[in-house]
Amino acid sequence: MTIEFVDLKRQFRPLQEEIMSRIEKVLGTMNLFLGENVYRLEEEFAAYCGVPHAIGVGSGTDALHLALRAVGVGPGDEVITVANTFFATVEAIALCGARPVFVDIDPASYTMDPSRVEVAITPRTKAILPVHLYGQPADMDPIVDISRKHGLAVVEDACQAHGAEYKGAKTGSLGDVAAFSFYYSKNLGAYGEGGMVVTKDREIATSVQMLRNHGGKERYHHAVMGVNARLDEIQAVALRVKLPHLDSWNASRRTWAEEYSRRLAGLEDVVTPVAQPYAKHVYHLYVIRAPDRDDLQKWLKRHDVSTGIHYPVPVHLQEACADLGYSPGSLPETEAAAREILSLPMFPELTVDEVAYVCQTIIGYARGRKGRRPRRSRSSAVREVVTR
Ligand SMILES: Cc1ncc(COP(=O)(O)O)c(C=O)c1O
Repeated sequence: MTIEFVDLKRQFRPLQEEIMSRIEKVLGTMNLFLGENVYRLEEEFAAYCGVPHAIGVGSGTDALHLALRAVGVGPGDEVITVANTFFATVEAIALCGARPVFVDIDPASYTMDPSRVEVAITPRTKAILPVHLYGQPADMDPIVDISRKHGLAVVEDACQAHGAEYKGAKTGSLGDVAAFSFYYSKNLGAYGEGGMVVTKDREIATSVQMLRNHGGKERYHHAVMGVNARLDEIQAVALRVKLPHLDSWNASRRTWAEEYSRRLAGLEDVVTPVAQPYAKHVYHLYVIRAPDRDDLQKWLKRHDVSTGIHYPVPVHLQEACADLGYSPGSLPETEAAAREILSLPMFPELTVDEVAYVCQTIIGYARGRKGRRPRRSRSSAVREVVTR
């Protein structure tokens, strides 16, 4: 059995006719930017998140960048975030001319440890940027409390958490403003790039509307320095077809996560993910932890199971961040996780036989390993997947 990490073709087939006919209609009008589909998607996605405003943008990176700018982050400011995330979280801070300040994660959830935030605040701190990683919201109440106490903005990175909930409220409604990605492998994915900023705050919304479109509301009139970061109509029409399916797709992800966790329970040296009591986890990724992760990944590959590592090098140790002054040991929980995490195949259209096969393969590895001397792999794990 061959199991892809994410098989997007299975989701496309049943929707193909509807998506293609709607795309043809859009092409028939040649109204390709900021048209009916973008505006309708904005309304539909805002309603889905439980907030009044949503602004379609070119990518999750654009969404983060423009959300940060809209809350006033600029050169010389500091933004507190985590290093266990996709690089774009931090790129967005740097694009504003601001400096990322990293705090360690809670190893139980892999998200920002709120108990470490307050000591990281300086007079330059402007915002806190928690990441709802792998589909699980960060522990938002203490983060929001700290932000209110210190007059800071909270920008949610919800790029991996469409439809996830914190104490019954949807991601996107938990801070001052939030960023979503519609990169094609996300829980709600376009057929290319796309993103959305969502917010309860009208001023922030108006600011992002201008920033995404060269800094102006009216053609050839530019109030501020903006960027070209518009969501296009073709992506928007596809996303409008997909949005009504998001909850049932998330429900399937949760079913497969439960199935994995049940089958892998009790396995020595394999730690399965734990949904926190406050969270409705939507399993963008199903991430286990194993001390000999690289060997396990090779074993799975030999048995035709594709896996991923999200992420092998924490952001604070990336070459591009060398001048920020962090070094190995700066964020022990983040670094330990990066050495041991492994993402198993996860997408709504998996089958029970496929999940069973992945689990049997892992169980087979664990049994065999007891009789072998542990091998340290010489090369780092190969990233085989197209996810971000
Ligand atoms: C946590 C996180 N933040 C930001 C991004 C950036 O989104 P995009 O790839 O759409 O620019 C991604 C993924 O793509 C992500 O996973």
